[in-house]
Amino acid sequence: MKITIVGAGYVGLVTGACLAAIGHDVVVVDRDGPKIAALRRGVMPIYEAGLDRLVAETAAAGRLSFETSLAPAVATSQAVFICVGTPPRPADGHADLASVYAVAAEIAQALAGFTLVVTKSTVPVGTGDEVEAIIREVAPDARVAVVSNPEFLREGVAIADFMRPDRIVVGGEDDGALGLMAALYAPITDAGSPLVTTNRRTAELIKYAANCFLALKITYINEIANLCEEVGADVEDVSRGIGLDSRIGAKFLKAGPGFGGSCFPKDMLALMKTAQDHGVPLRSVETAVAVNDARKGEMVRKIIRAAGGSVQGKSIAVLGLTFKPDTDDMRSAASLIILPRLIKAGASIRAYDPAGMAHAAPLLPGVVMAASALEAAEGADLAVLVTEWAEFSTLDLGALGRVLKNPLLVDLRNLFDPLAAERSGLRYVSVGRGD
Ligand code: UGA
Repeated sequence: MKITIVGAGYVGLVTGACLAAIGHDVVVVDRDGPKIAALRRGVMPIYEAGLDRLVAETAAAGRLSFETSLAPAVATSQAVFICVGTPPRPADGHADLASVYAVAAEIAQALAGFTLVVTKSTVPVGTGDEVEAIIREVAPDARVAVVSNPEFLREGVAIADFMRPDRIVVGGEDDGALGLMAALYAPITDAGSPLVTTNRRTAELIKYAANCFLALKITYINEIANLCEEVGADVEDVSRGIGLDSRIGAKFLKAGPGFGGSCFPKDMLALMKTAQDHGVPLRSVETAVAVNDARKGEMVRKIIRAAGGSVQGKSIAVLGLTFKPDTDDMRSAASLIILPRLIKAGASIRAYDPAGMAHAAPLLPGVVMAASALEAAEGADLAVLVTEWAEFSTLDLGALGRVLKNPLLVDLRNLFDPLAAERSGLRYVSVGRGD
């Protein structure tokens, strides 16, 4: 199938490269000229494992190309995917759909022959109706079907998530269009991934309901971690003990400093607003947002307590800055709240992150960046692990203890075995396992 992807951001690039890899002819369009020029040279605007290789392979095979003008690509495509951003509007937290609607109008002007218009961006319920209305207004005679096909890609493992998804969700009002979408994804569903077909509004809601549910799971285990600390229980074992119940499931039950990233916080806010507007507030989601916000303060208090009640005049080595490992993304990272509060409490901070320091430096004024974990820790009063990068799990804890002034490690991700940490001479404080 000939496909146009509008938006060369994270979702657009991964979707474009993966659709090309399963045999489609894909053009990725973005009006950002320098970005498209860089992509043509094989330079990725984002850090995602394996993406540069997949782009190079599919481009070399002639199935993936990059353009700045939308009209010629749309006119020759059977499907057009809208993959532009939907950030929260600062004023009210609603998802900002200006780019989605502008793209819909532009697509409408270029349509020729029957075309599927697919919204992949995360959009509030009813956006597909509005996209269709815009297209019908601009091009009343266009032969078009507007379909919702939300993405469930996790940063860092997005290609695997696309190629072997737990499910593909497609929502539309037209059986012919749903059939075409099924054909488009056949290489993936033939390999065993289920396809959920439904109406458009349901598909749009599934995306938000999924993200918010995962965020609820994390929030729940974080509160259980607090209780574990009070009653002398071990949250890692609680997690395992409940996660093995197939009704609960083991994933997204890892306690930590609270969820971050570009998706969960934004999508919770957007779903909360939608629900409030419809007079059916989602109290569980509202509470989870508040609990997750408070979590950062709890982590700061934990660090200060571990440091003996004050960090005034103390130097802290911070390991990991990004919102999770295997990404350079700093959006809603726990470090952005925790570190400034520690500085305000009188600490000085030297930090190291394997991929996030370039993005982090301007966001964290006053934090000195180091070239390695051990360099960050050299002479510091304590070390705090904020992001569970794999390279930290193989860190020589004995060496860490020796370069620190005080051998104290506060691990906000429970990356280490407490016994092993204590054996290497560290005082080890973690989450939900007693101090
Ligand atoms: C999330 C969803 O997992 C994807 O399915 C979805 O497609 C994506 O949002 C999106 O809407 O585009 P992502 O934001 O990349 O993906 O990151 P996650 O791996 O879900 O992690 C989110 C946050 O939760 C991170 O801060 C992570 O550290 C935290 N987390 C995750 C925990 O604290 N505990 C866990 O057990 C799992």
